[in-house]
Amino acid sequence: MFTRSFLLLPLATLLLATSALAAGPNLGMPLTQADLAAWDIFVFPDGKGLPKGSGTAAEGSAIYAQKCMHCHGEGAKGGISAALVGAPPIKSIDAPKTIANFWPYSTTLFDFIRRAMPWQQPRSLTDNEVYALTAYLLAQNKLIGEKDVMNAQALPKVKMPNRDNFSPRFPELMPRSGEKDL
Ligand code: HEC
Repeated sequence: MFTRSFLLLPLATLLLATSALAAGPNLGMPLTQADLAAWDIFVFPDGKGLPKGSGTAAEGSAIYAQKCMHCHGEGAKGGISAALVGAPPIKSIDAPKTIANFWPYSTTLFDFIRRAMPWQQPRSLTDNEVYALTAYLLAQNKLIGEKDVMNAQALPKVKMPNRDNFSPRFPELMPRSGEKDL
């Protein structure tokens, strides 16, 4: 009796260990598509990845006053944090690095605000709020009309003034036309 259980115990342990190994170390949890979607918020320059929803400058103005003005100043002209509205765009390295001068793609504005602002509470804005704030900042920079509605179709069509004036430091590393995005 003793001998039999003495032999069976190591055998059972071995079997258990083998099946545990086959199932993996049992750490973490499986990811669902919904889990992934919450992190997959990249918006490409051409607008790929923009979510549903929309907003106007008037809506954005009210949200701006409540959630952004204490850092970026009245009319987004600068405060303790950077100015988001600047002088008319100038083609010079000395141009102030405002959105209108220095951002090649309007879609990046949506991406940046959604992932990073307000500074102390990132990812707290709804997609409609982000569209509205994007519309507000584009309108303040006189890049769209006051009444223009920004959404996944309209935003990529807003061409930033210096879009074609950037000189890449390493042109050989830029994707050539027809080539897929890096
Ligand atoms: C607590 C202060 C604070 C608040 C509130 C805040 N921001 Fe900012 N914002 C910053 C700081 C600091 C930076 C610079 C961040 C960096 O360079 O990484 C910044 C950068 C930005 C930029 C990029 C500017 C550039 O030219 O690079 C945008 C656009 C912007 N904020 C929009 C917003 C919007 C829209 C809101 C309101 C929803 C907001 N911010 C609220 C502090 C703030």
